[in-house]
Amino acid sequence: MDHGAADQVYRGNLDRLVSKIDEERGIDLSQYRRAYVERRVASRLRSLGLHSYRQYIDYMDSNPAEYHKLLDTLTINVTDFFRDSVVYEIFCKEIVPAMLNEKMRTRHRMIRAWSAGCATGEEPYSIAMSFLDAMGRKDTKFLFNVLGTDLDLGALAVARKAEYSIDKLEHIPKPLQLKYTEVHGEKFIIKPEVTKHVRFRQLNLFTDRPINMVDVIFCRNVFIYFNREQQERVLEMFWSALSRGGYLVLGRSEKLASSLVGRFELYNGRERVYRKPKSV
Ligand SMILES: C[S@@+](CC[C@H](N)C(=O)[O-])C[C@H]1O[C@@H](n2cnc3c(N)ncnc32)[C@H](O)[C@@H]1O
Repeated sequence: MDHGAADQVYRGNLDRLVSKIDEERGIDLSQYRRAYVERRVASRLRSLGLHSYRQYIDYMDSNPAEYHKLLDTLTINVTDFFRDSVVYEIFCKEIVPAMLNEKMRTRHRMIRAWSAGCATGEEPYSIAMSFLDAMGRKDTKFLFNVLGTDLDLGALAVARKAEYSIDKLEHIPKPLQLKYTEVHGEKFIIKPEVTKHVRFRQLNLFTDRPINMVDVIFCRNVFIYFNREQQERVLEMFWSALSRGGYLVLGRSEKLASSLVGRFELYNGRERVYRKPKSV
């Protein structure tokens, strides 16, 4: 077989694998970057000692548990408390006070945050701790909640438990550690006064209907998995989910797709913070 023909068989088999997973599990991997899917599938092939997509498709037929293994490989849950801490400083010192002023001015009490692609929960709990701390004594005036969503049920189960290994504690600023965490041996928990403000739900950003009237969305280090078109669709959905003047916080290496640039205002370019205009 010449090189071009071999390439076509290779691509054809990957396409077959992608549509098989979509048909049987409803997960559309064509939405992910192709090179990313190739890399992750290759790592499964290596650990199973298989040499082609064809063999992998056969293997999945006789080992349905492999679907979960592949999805686990695709949804990498690496995360941390206060990841890229500067963005949380901006959040506490600028965004929360501005939000509270606006809420007081418009006589609204409800403040909603959404951590989209929250993995094992460190991000939504960081948002909640920052928020509660920044709100200080005003907390009786406002009703505040954070929704953490992810595709991965295993990650969400860890998030709901709100218990983490002690080596993660150092990422939480000391004053917040003292206020909002409790150490139990080699683990620590997030105190109920924080967890009572945080809920978790499985949500696939490609297909599920989102929540609305959100004041701030954190969607960090999730777009790396998506192709451009998919990023645009998710950003459109975020735009609709945000209330006017609401904030969108992306990951440090992520930016707005060019077709969405006019729809959001740039709030902080370095930290990738955007805003839905107040008048739309
Ligand atoms: C690297 S983690 C990011 C965690 C956190 N936002 C942070 O920045 O530390 C990416 C998360 O996105 C989730 N994810 C990937 N594709 C998704 C999709 N289509 N819908 C919802 N979550 C998805 C993965 O399951 C994973 O937990």
